[in-house]
Amino acid sequence: MSEQVAIPDTVLIFDTTLRDGEQSPGATLNVEEKLEIARQLSRLGVDICEAGFPIASPGDFDAVRRIAEEVGPLVEGRKNGQPMVIAGLARANQEDISRAYEAVKVAPRHRIHTFLATSDIHLKHKLRIDREECVDQVIKAVSYARALCDDIEFSPEDAGRSDPDFLVQVLGEAIKAGATTLNIPDTVGYTTPDEFGRLIEYLIKHTPGADQVVWSVHCHNDLGLATANTLAGIKAGARQAEVTLNGIGERAGNTALEEVVMALTTRSQNFNLQTNIDTSQIARTSHMVSTYTGMIIQPNKAIVGANAFAHEAGIHQDGMLKNHLTYEIMRPETVGLNTSKLVLGKHSGRHAFRVHLREMGYDNMDDAEVSAAFKRFKRIADKKKVVTDADIEAIIADEIYQPPVIWQLDHIQVSCGDHSIPTASVVMIGPDGVTYQDAALGSGPVDAVYQAINRIVGVTNRLTEFTINAVTEGLDAVAEATIRIQPVEGAEFIMNPQTNQPIYKTFSGHGASTDIVVASARAYLSALNKMLAERDNLAAQMQRAEHTKAQA
Ligand code: KIV
Ligand code: ZN
Repeated sequence: MSEQVAIPDTVLIFDTTLRDGEQSPGATLNVEEKLEIARQLSRLGVDICEAGFPIASPGDFDAVRRIAEEVGPLVEGRKNGQPMVIAGLARANQEDISRAYEAVKVAPRHRIHTFLATSDIHLKHKLRIDREECVDQVIKAVSYARALCDDIEFSPEDAGRSDPDFLVQVLGEAIKAGATTLNIPDTVGYTTPDEFGRLIEYLIKHTPGADQVVWSVHCHNDLGLATANTLAGIKAGARQAEVTLNGIGERAGNTALEEVVMALTTRSQNFNLQTNIDTSQIARTSHMVSTYTGMIIQPNKAIVGANAFAHEAGIHQDGMLKNHLTYEIMRPETVGLNTSKLVLGKHSGRHAFRVHLREMGYDNMDDAEVSAAFKRFKRIADKKKVVTDADIEAIIADEIYQPPVIWQLDHIQVSCGDHSIPTASVVMIGPDGVTYQDAALGSGPVDAVYQAINRIVGVTNRLTEFTINAVTEGLDAVAEATIRIQPVEGAEFIMNPQTNQPIYKTFSGHGASTDIVVASARAYLSALNKMLAERDNLAAQMQRAEHTKAQA
């Protein structure tokens, strides 16, 4: 008789890059960027995608609804052949829950995720309710949500600082009211791994009906312990991990998806657990999230940092040459690095280009978008012998997933050198279709271009971050620039329609070119267009609100 091999349990990966991740200061994404990230999360094999917080704004609602509609049904390339569950977040009240349900219901698999704080600090100072009222609100909210949909997640916010016995009471009531997943958040990243592991074990052991639900963990990284806490929670019995790509999120961020997945994969003897993630998609997803959010990845970041697989010391290099096992616990190919193959060159035709885009997963581009990307590809192929997948991804990000074009770059010219004052002349096409030109001096060529653009567009802002990276190796590499800007203090041109107060938000932009000055100019304009689109959008909302008030 053959020996029975135990099938490892599966840890479900709940990705909240588009909700908790987008709450990182400055990580604002437009709807097209959110859709593209959601498509990539589906290819990556994420089980549940928390697409946003629908009640937060009409824009958030729309983005969640479109993700539910357009990405919700996708199954191609997914290991388990099932589409992602699309989740929407809601506070524990009927209005939020109804709005979340309206946004996600079109997805074949959808979930309402509702939450209410349970720690005494939050009950007393934030919610101003007592424990009894808290339990009552949870029962009402979960029952209401369950009447709308079968897949309900409940989170006791700040569980890490809540009384475990009170949690047992609240969670038991949530199960009775119909919750199917119970998520335990360490909202402020306060706990340590042994403590958090013990908490999960305690809750699973003592909550009535614990075996009827999936237990989940959601950790924040304030003490740098998010991944360790998540793994401790999994060891204690949690079978869902809430994570974000690159660990982006509020303050110090959330647990990084790539760290949890690669820990479970690389140390499988230690966990005997599996995930549905296609690890070869990790590098690509991480890069896309970093580009679109403008959140740069530190070079020494585990799994996805630029140095994560680099070996500098002579002894290490020597060991690696003899046998990679000496200093390498994972192969870069496992996370999708170093797999770029030369597939296209300057003689490749449009058809081959389109076929290759499909193979890369860009199957939703229309003819105009393919033509625009193909034109850019040809220009790069003229300058570079080898065009890799990474180059193509940079072109697509630069060409297609940009904010609505308000101002357009026509051309730029710079003059600089060690004995001259950097000077730039810029020609742009305005929102009215008219061509504008101006010139400016700067501390360097990029600064000169930015000054000239500012003179034309006429909005003031502060540059808070600027990075430029080569997509591939070599002097002919495509450069990708990422930039973050903020409206200048006192400029007060972006107003919140509810409070009529200025909003000082950060806007990110990205651009790619074989010329670093052009890449930087494109990134700057992308951020500027995002900022202007937001201003116009909020102004229109204000006008609508005033109109409604006048009619009432
Ligand atoms: O950190 C937190 O508590 C959250 C909840 C909404 C799950 O993000
Ligand atoms: Zn959170």
